[in-house]
Amino acid sequence: MALANKIALVTGSSSGIGFAISKEFAENQGATVLVCSRNINDAIRTSEKIKGDTQAVELDVTNERDVRSVVKGTILNHGGIDILVNCAGHRFENAIWYKKYHKMTDRALDAIMEVDLKGTIHMTRAFLPSMIRKTNRSRRNSGVIINIASTPAMSGHREGAPYTIAKAAVVAVTKHIALEYGNQKIRAYTLALGNIATEATYYSMTKPGRKKAANEPAMKRWGSAEEVAKVAACLGSESFSYATGNTIIIDGGKLIV
Ligand SMILES: NC(=O)c1ccc[n+]([C@@H]2O[C@H](COP(=O)([O-])OP(=O)(O)OC[C@H]3O[C@@H](n4cnc5c(N)ncnc54)[C@H](OP(=O)(O)O)[C@@H]3O)[C@@H](O)[C@H]2O)c1
Repeated sequence: MALANKIALVTGSSSGIGFAISKEFAENQGATVLVCSRNINDAIRTSEKIKGDTQAVELDVTNERDVRSVVKGTILNHGGIDILVNCAGHRFENAIWYKKYHKMTDRALDAIMEVDLKGTIHMTRAFLPSMIRKTNRSRRNSGVIINIASTPAMSGHREGAPYTIAKAAVVAVTKHIALEYGNQKIRAYTLALGNIATEATYYSMTKPGRKKAANEPAMKRWGSAEEVAKVAACLGSESFSYATGNTIIIDGGKLIV
């Protein structure tokens, strides 16, 4: 069990990719996982679906007071966390995704930036000090931050400008943390995801839309949240001890760099 004795916090874990990562970490890799949702009842329901050591946490990543209080709680209960996964993302909205760049409103831009970018910034900023203290107390382990972005962050895209812009900045956050904190045993990664089947994507699309997306990558299929979770578990373990700042593309071979 690669994550035995590790404490992991996964934002946006009530559904989709965040749920799959929480499940993989707790059920298969032996981590204690803090399962987060903006609604405590959803967090509790989610944690009850996972066979492993979990704790339900109410957390809105856009609310700095919430974030500070969760940091305090993790220090009190666990001496801090070892792995932070920033997976929370603004829900997919057709009205935002399909609007031309020149018609993009500040409201839409701010909404996505608040969750996907500033949420990631708030979380890493608040958790870094205790994560550094914890890793300094341990001879072997490093602290790991995994930020969830998307392939448009690397390649650009002809739709969904606010999402692309926010996720591109997330890649920059990862690189910055890797460089500034690498000498303090903190590693940071971005997962740039392609079409991953979740309620927010595959299950809310039309059949032709699903088919079109499936045909995009070399593998000619959608990815699963579980496939993303396996990669996250590997990054969170000590297997990646001499790699940091990387963007790992998980898209079935559409964007190859
Ligand atoms: N699926 C894909 O194809 C794909 C592709 C590229 C990137 N991604 C990225 O992967 C991540 C997960 O996507 P998904 O498909 O699993 O979507 P999802 O099921 O909609 O999950 C998004 C999660 O974010 C949480 N969330 C939203 N606003 C939040 C806030 N202010 N504070 C805390 N949590 C918040 C939601 O939890 P609550 O409502 O319970 O709070 C929800 O669990 C997102 O960052 C997304 O951009 C997904």
